[in-house]
Amino acid sequence: MEIHKVVVAGGGVLGSQIAYQAAYCGFDVTIWLRSEGSIGRTQPKLDKLKEVYRETIEKMATPAGKSPAVWARGIADAETFDPAACIQKAEQAYAGVKLELDMAKAVADADLIIETMAEDVQEKIAFYTKLAPLLPEKTIIVTNSSTLLPSMFAEHTGRPEKYLSLHFANTIWRNNTAEVMAQSKTDPRYFDQILAFANDIRMIALPVRKEKAGYLLNSMLVPLLFSAMDLFVDGVSEPESIDKAWTLGTGAPFGPFRILDTVGLTTAHNIVKTYLHVPEAIAPYHFKAMDEMLSKYIAEGKLGKSTGEGFYKY
Ligand SMILES: NC(=O)c1ccc[n+]([C@@H]2O[C@H](COP(=O)([O-])OP(=O)(O)OC[C@H]3O[C@@H](n4cnc5c(N)ncnc54)[C@H](O)[C@@H]3O)[C@@H](O)[C@H]2O)c1
Repeated sequence: MEIHKVVVAGGGVLGSQIAYQAAYCGFDVTIWLRSEGSIGRTQPKLDKLKEVYRETIEKMATPAGKSPAVWARGIADAETFDPAACIQKAEQAYAGVKLELDMAKAVADADLIIETMAEDVQEKIAFYTKLAPLLPEKTIIVTNSSTLLPSMFAEHTGRPEKYLSLHFANTIWRNNTAEVMAQSKTDPRYFDQILAFANDIRMIALPVRKEKAGYLLNSMLVPLLFSAMDLFVDGVSEPESIDKAWTLGTGAPFGPFRILDTVGLTTAHNIVKTYLHVPEAIAPYHFKAMDEMLSKYIAEGKLGKSTGEGFYKY
């Protein structure tokens, strides 16, 4: 079975990007939304994406556009880049994405459902339960959830063998990795099909062959960020030196504190707070001191790049 018709459930930051990118790559895309109010929030996101794709393509067509910082791998390959054709594809994508409030109508004949609703377990279960009886036999369902495991929802979909994770990164036309993660009941046939689909929408598909909280990236990144903050709050060294140890020692372009500034200190703080209940005797990091350090930065308005200052000034 080939994938043609894609339904994106949820039209937030990621939902609108996934829908736009899939339409850009020629798929028939519908975003299912739950209310008129959601349409009012999703349509401006699509309007903005149309502008962002056009501006990005125009920049890619300039000499500076070839630099890795500007080039958007989700839009084109350098060897075959045709700016006019890309702009046409971006315009067709904008015209092509359909918004639908009626769930039954949206999913009729769907080959693939991409669930990208807010991280709320009960809401996701309610969605899958309502969705299951409406779907044709062939439909594969994936979740874009960053923090919830697909095994939590597999049974509620009524088709655990056709259910897995397809996890994107924000600004998918540029940061075009897609982590494809199976749960224990996923049939390998559909795992392979979703890997192929991710490549078809110009993502770099990364297989995650068994369930793992944090997928590949966050399984490595979160401990790095914790270790860096721990060195700081324990008085071992300062952010600049800790970053240099990492960048000069490994050749990585950014150190952990620059990454924290990009992620945003509020998000980092929320993650640290979820570990505060871990008893000190078994916690490998000084979470309480990290919590206090981040609270102080946040109280001073230093939220990271978004406010012009975090651990660094921008
Ligand atoms: N933001 C990111 O950087 C990012 C990156 C990767 C994955 N994700 C994941 O993508 C999903 C969505 O994240 P987002 O950042 O787009 O969130 P968002 O808050 O921008 O959008 C969430 C969307 O879900 C809709 N929604 C919420 N409850 C619903 C319900 N009961 N029925 C129908 N629609 C409902 C909202 O109306 C909204 O359109 C989450 O699972 C998140 O973990 C986010």
